[in-house]
Amino acid sequence: MKLRSKEWFARKGKDGFIYRAWMKNQGIPADMFEGKPVIGICNTWSELTPCNAHLRDLAEAVKKGVLEAGGFPLEFPVMSLGETLMKPTAMLFRNLASMDVEESIRANPMDGVVLLVGCDKTTPSLVMGACSVDLPSIVVSGGAMLTGKFRGKDIGTSDVWRFADDSKKGLISEEEMNMAEAGMCRSIGHCAVMGTASTMAGMVESLGITLPGNAAIPAADSRRKVLARMSGRRIVEMIKENLKLSDVLKREAFENAIKVNAAIGGSTNFAIHLMAIAGRIGVDLNLEDFDHYSKDIPLVANLQPSGQYFMEDLYYAGGIPAVMNSIKGSLNADILTVSGKTVAENIQDQESLNDDVISTKDNPFNPISGIVVLKGNLCENGAVLKPSAATPELMKHTGKAVVFENIEDYKNRIDSDDLDVDANSVLVLKNVGPKGYPGMPEVGNMGIPKKLLDMGVTDMVRISDGRMSGTGFGTVVLHVSPESAVGGTLALVQNGDLIELDVEARKLNLLLDDAELESRRQNLKVEGNPYTRGYCKLYVDHVEQAHLGADLDFLKGGSGSEVLRDSH
Ligand code: FES
Repeated sequence: MKLRSKEWFARKGKDGFIYRAWMKNQGIPADMFEGKPVIGICNTWSELTPCNAHLRDLAEAVKKGVLEAGGFPLEFPVMSLGETLMKPTAMLFRNLASMDVEESIRANPMDGVVLLVGCDKTTPSLVMGACSVDLPSIVVSGGAMLTGKFRGKDIGTSDVWRFADDSKKGLISEEEMNMAEAGMCRSIGHCAVMGTASTMAGMVESLGITLPGNAAIPAADSRRKVLARMSGRRIVEMIKENLKLSDVLKREAFENAIKVNAAIGGSTNFAIHLMAIAGRIGVDLNLEDFDHYSKDIPLVANLQPSGQYFMEDLYYAGGIPAVMNSIKGSLNADILTVSGKTVAENIQDQESLNDDVISTKDNPFNPISGIVVLKGNLCENGAVLKPSAATPELMKHTGKAVVFENIEDYKNRIDSDDLDVDANSVLVLKNVGPKGYPGMPEVGNMGIPKKLLDMGVTDMVRISDGRMSGTGFGTVVLHVSPESAVGGTLALVQNGDLIELDVEARKLNLLLDDAELESRRQNLKVEGNPYTRGYCKLYVDHVEQAHLGADLDFLKGGSGSEVLRDSH
């Protein structure tokens, strides 16, 4: 076995002495340095990332597995991105965390890596970083929370939006809000609906870079620790087989992931993160692929926010293997995964155990699924919409724009009695794209104006260059590219302009003639980067547009695992 860790631990003389001696202060016996594969356990544990706060526990299970298989486990921390607390938005730091992961792996004596992830951005950031090094790697997700409970009902993160609307309308008291808050997150783990964290867990499983069953086992279920332990055993085998990420992450694996995402009603954030991962591993993927590969796949999983159930229910019904089984005729089933088996072998024994939760492809929960990619003069490079979370009557709609210039303008005016808006209006929010905010926050599913809520309006067409939480819903057009901050047509929209959305035709247009558009464009002033130092300056200077995955332009591709200079 050719081990890169031997470059450190098998060295003679002063250097080898230093490499080993300082490690021995942790009580590590000498034989651990004698040719055992070193497995890095890349941990996003943090008390500031509550969804990942149990990952040190899970790391212990991975370590047991590594030791059982004859490896040498070493756990290390990387930047952790907690969705609920980080400001201005965790997405601003996804690329920064990926740099931390990439450089930590390359700089240290590792032969393979186990990536411990959970909350939304922790999964893509670790996978992106690991792809740019391309060692044998396996992902272990932290698992979802147990289903929340409130007054005898099941609740999850998507209900936060409903509680907020009910509170605005005076339908729910502060005391009831406190009770809901106490029952929402009643165990370890990440959001229990098919939000972005669950979408990411499904993504890594359907890409073939986890053991089968990874996505749906609840965080609190002891079988999650079994999976972690088995992943620890498996990574040691993968080093013997020299099975690297690039051996698994072929274009066919990305096509599978897009199809599975459609089948489970995954988050729109999926498009941005999968594009960024493809960019790191050198797979040519574009935004149109998301529409193309998902259009024949119905929604087979009945999960919130597109459906009714929760991640716990998905697990009891057979998890992602059962979902994949229900659409297996559409999948690239003979490709290799990190289990050492093909997709077909991984899923062959797992039929749906509950047709209410995981239906068949022929009799789906909803024939509408996936991520629709829109084009038009309002989004020359594309925009996305999740039809399963939208209102069918609004899929073809023309309305007058009600424009908010930025998030502060929106917050100041959305509930004002003076706001000139009706149920047919199209809400437009500018300057929340990758560069404009910066970091592209999840504000695209703007709240319905209070005066319309009071009239019983529950959905409107909303358009922005921002993102939407995977737990959100509504007829929401997101990721408009080019964004308004770089002078995209979105920046030219004015109050009262007519906007036409036609989902079936995949069109989104600002109904103005070319001369008027050109005249407005001539008068548009595009601001430069307002940041003069630090990560925000680097980010705004280099972040790419949403339709490319919003990675930093200089991070595309990889640099391999070779250490170019050796000062020791
Ligand atoms: Fe972490 Fe939802 S806040 S997954």
